[in-house]
Amino acid sequence: MPTTTWNRHHILSLADFTTAEYDTVLQTAASFQEVLSRRTKKVPTLQGQVVANLFFESSTRTRSSFELAAKRLSADTLNFAAATSSMTKGETILDTAKTYLAMGTDIMVVRHREAGVPNAIAAEMDRLGVRVSVLNAGDGQHEHPSQALLDLFTICTLIDPASPRLELLKGKKIAIVGDILHSRVARSNIWSLIASGAEVHLAAPPTLLPKLFAEYISEESGARSQESEVRSYSPNPQLFLHWQLEPALQNADFVMTLRLQKERMTAHLLPSLREYHQLFGITRTKLQLCKPNVKVLHPGPVNRGVEISSELMDDPEFSLIQSQVTSGVAVRMALLYLLGSGKA
Ligand code: NCD
Repeated sequence: MPTTTWNRHHILSLADFTTAEYDTVLQTAASFQEVLSRRTKKVPTLQGQVVANLFFESSTRTRSSFELAAKRLSADTLNFAAATSSMTKGETILDTAKTYLAMGTDIMVVRHREAGVPNAIAAEMDRLGVRVSVLNAGDGQHEHPSQALLDLFTICTLIDPASPRLELLKGKKIAIVGDILHSRVARSNIWSLIASGAEVHLAAPPTLLPKLFAEYISEESGARSQESEVRSYSPNPQLFLHWQLEPALQNADFVMTLRLQKERMTAHLLPSLREYHQLFGITRTKLQLCKPNVKVLHPGPVNRGVEISSELMDDPEFSLIQSQVTSGVAVRMALLYLLGSGKA
């Protein structure tokens, strides 16, 4: 394991992550990736610690990935699913968290459909003066740090498997395409990719990429907005907004596609899924605009044939979707290890 100092007690957002923190996560994940390639894929690092997965919203890969990561570190795991819990009897979120605290939980992995719930639980734990760490596994439309970190790890290990590090992405062009408005994955990825020195090109129809989105990013990063052309807009030298797909794909090194989050759409934001696919769906033909060895990512779950064509999704020449899922376990082991190793 790399020797490192890690001072962060909760992982709630990537907005203030430092280069050193990104690199520590990447290097630690690389050593766990090596552990996962052994015959015995388990280490005793978190023996005796309790990791509680508090998923107040549905999940397949994130929940299973955190559970497997905790088990591979020899932690004891508790799994909570809102639909079958005492929340149906009126128990509050904070009382639920305190119940898990009373059972000796060391790390709470929290997902909720409302932004800010992991922060509220973390604040309550701090107020109580307990050494419980909270890890945000996706809160509303706000952030999904572990997904962005596993996306970063997937890309960096592709470029340099022996030594994944943030600077490998400097100058690369990365397109993020799709339902950016509702995407916590996009928001977390924007922080990590901008920190790496990459150029980030967002592309979506105006209803899914309001210009206001740029203000959110530029306000938080202190950048000043400057209008460029009508179909594109660049609020900071590394971030570009496009209301057409082509300028985002032109010479891109990586394309991140996002699911149309129909469950979060409160209005009719699109004429039809067919038209959306025609204009913004990623296909092999459209990838010809990109660099020849372009790779495509998607956090899953995928609407096949909507944001990405079914054949492209399954094409190992272009698609990194399965390696994202595989990387997820190593990256989450790294995060649990970094939060948990100080608690022994
Ligand atoms: C994402 C999520 O839940 O935010 N999925 C995931 O965690 N792998 C993206 C999505 O739901 O579309």
